[in-house]
Amino acid sequence: MRRKEQIDPHKLPKHIAIIMDGNGRWAKSRGSERVFGHRNAITAVREAAEGCAEIGVEYLTLFAFSTENWRRPPTEVRALMTLLVETIGKEVKTLMDNGIRLRAIGNIEQLPARAQKRLAEAMETTKDNKRMTLTLALSYGARADMTQAIRDISKRIASGEISPDQIDEELVSQYLSTSYAPDPELLIRTSGEHRISNFLLWEIAYAEIFFMPKLWPDFRREDLHEAILNFQNRERRFGKISEQIQQ
Ligand code: IPE
Ligand code: IPE
Ligand code: MG
Repeated sequence: MRRKEQIDPHKLPKHIAIIMDGNGRWAKSRGSERVFGHRNAITAVREAAEGCAEIGVEYLTLFAFSTENWRRPPTEVRALMTLLVETIGKEVKTLMDNGIRLRAIGNIEQLPARAQKRLAEAMETTKDNKRMTLTLALSYGARADMTQAIRDISKRIASGEISPDQIDEELVSQYLSTSYAPDPELLIRTSGEHRISNFLLWEIAYAEIFFMPKLWPDFRREDLHEAILNFQNRERRFGKISEQIQQ
């Protein structure tokens, strides 16, 4: 039986997050420049988005560019930004055909004006799509996001709107940029690296993590199915013991 048919539609993660890693190595292994890997990552993005939408995942969040990625050589950063502008423009049709709403998290105002404009247009065009929400994490860092939340909560305390006693986990979640989505239940990272790299630190508190050796440009929907099946075969205990879960 194909992997897709083995997936239990009643036990799907509502929200999947992916750290799309390995573009540079993919290109290098072919004797090409790193940028070649980024260009070849678009198919994988489409496969992940369409694959999630077609099986009924409601939220997909993709780590596309981190706050730390600004430290890369300027030529690579520039190429990534150009690719972003071109791709968003081209992919609006794919988003519309699949009923996907586009959103973005991160310090969007740090992106070049053209990228911001394309992004804003695509988000506006797709805003009424209901099948799935695709979030691009761009110039995103979880620590920056949590710092922003602390700043915003502090301002409301200073103005007397809320008291410190009202701060609970629910309130903190509401001040993060991901407040519109449930926490991801499944986090996938490609390229064999076993780290989080400052992605969604608060939100992944209880996510199941699936590391795969494949490099991101090689990712296809069968890989998504594999990760979901693996997720469905895990016992999520949330601190309890196995016998309590099986009742
Ligand atoms: C992920 O691939 C894409 C971005 C971080 C923008 P990398 O560019 O990190 O590729 P590797 O990890 O160097 O192979
Ligand atoms: C994480 O990948 C960020 C993205 C996938 C956008 P990196 O390649 O930047 O992570 P590190 O530096 O290897 O941890
Ligand atoms: Mg990398």
